[in-house]
Amino acid sequence: AVTLDSLARAKGMRFGTATDQSELVQPDLAALIARECSVVVGENAQKWKKLEPREGVFRDENAQAIAAFAAIHDMELRGHCFVWNQDDRIPGWLLEREDELAKNGGEGLIRQMWEHARQLADAFPTVASWDAVNEVITPWEGEVRDALLSRILGDRLMDVGFAMMREVAPEAQLVYNDYMSWQKRPNHRNGVLKLLEGALSRGVPIDALGIQSHLINTLAQPIDERGWRDFMQSVQDMGLKVLITELDTGDRYLEETDPAKRDAEIAAFTKGYLDLTLSFENVERIVLWSISDRDTYLNRPQYPEGKRRPDGLPFRAHPFDAELRKRPMYDAIAAALRSA
Ligand code: G3I
Repeated sequence: AVTLDSLARAKGMRFGTATDQSELVQPDLAALIARECSVVVGENAQKWKKLEPREGVFRDENAQAIAAFAAIHDMELRGHCFVWNQDDRIPGWLLEREDELAKNGGEGLIRQMWEHARQLADAFPTVASWDAVNEVITPWEGEVRDALLSRILGDRLMDVGFAMMREVAPEAQLVYNDYMSWQKRPNHRNGVLKLLEGALSRGVPIDALGIQSHLINTLAQPIDERGWRDFMQSVQDMGLKVLITELDTGDRYLEETDPAKRDAEIAAFTKGYLDLTLSFENVERIVLWSISDRDTYLNRPQYPEGKRRPDGLPFRAHPFDAELRKRPMYDAIAAALRSA
C-alpha cells in the first residue's frame, strides 16, 4: 500500500512521528503509526525531567515502550533529547544546585551530564539518531539562551554535549535540533548558523541539523523563500544532513473558522513549505510531532493560553484527525513527497 513512509522511501528518505506510550496502547493509533511511519521518537518520554524526576530515580517505562514498539515494527528510533539549555526543561533538583555545579569550571555539572549521557545510552542502545543538543538559540535575538548549562559552560555547551553523546553512543547520528523560522525573521536562523559554524570549526561532531517545523504561525506571514533557501543552502554547504523533526501546524493566526477552509489553507501552506525544504537533497527524514489530533499537545490543558487561537477553537494540527481520518494535510505531505 502507498503510505507516507513508502513515498518517502521512494525518494531515499524516511517518514515518522513523535509518540508516547499512552498512544501506543491504543490499537487503532498504534496500527496507524506502524503503517505510515518507519521512524518514531518519544514526545516527552526521554526528557531528563521525565526520566529522572528526582535524583537517582530513573523512570524509563514510557520510553522503553516506544523503543520496544520500534523494535517490533522494525522502525528507526530517534532520541529526544540529551542537552536542553532551558531552565524549565532542566530537572528542579539539578537547577537548585547551580552554585555547586558551577565550581571549578563546571566540574559538578559535567559529572552530572556524563552520568545522564551514560544512562541514556545504556537504557536506549537502539537509538539511531540523537538530538544531542536542543534549542540553544533564542528566537528573537538569535543569541545563546541564558540557562543553567550556558551560564556554567558558555560556548563549550555544544562541544560538551556532542562529545559526550559521541563517546557513549558512537554509532548514533548526532543532531542539533531547533525551530528557526522560515519567515522574514532572520535572527534565529543566523544565530543557529553561527552556532553551527563555530562548533564545526572546533571539530564538534555534528552530523545533522534538525529543523523542527512547527508551522505554528501558518499564514501569519508567507515563507521568506529567499531567506529560507539561503539558510538551507548554508546548512548543506556545511556538509550537514537535515531532518524535519517535529512537523505540525498551529493555525493560530488564521482568522478562518470553517474547518474545511482551515484544513485547505493548512494543507496548502504545508505543501509550499515542504516543496521548498525538500528541494534540498540533504533532507533525509520527515518526522511529525504527533500523527493525529487525538492527544495533540497543542490542545492539552497545559498548553499556554496565550499561544492558543484567540477564538478558542482547537488546533487542527496533524495529518489525521482525532477519529484518525485523513485530512488534506495528509495529501499535501504525500504530494510534496511525490514531487520531491
Ligand atoms: O505528565 C505530566 C502530568 O503528570 C501532569 O499532571 C501535567 C500537569 O501540567 O503535566 C504533564 O507533563 C507535561 C508534558 O508535556 C506531558 O503532557 C508538561 O507539564 C509539559 O510541559 C510537557 O510539554 C511538552 C513540552 O515539549 C515541554 O517538554 C509537550 O508535551 C511537548 O510536545 C513539547 O515538545 C517540544 C519538543 O520537546 C522540543 N521542540 C518543541 C516541542 C513543542 O513545544
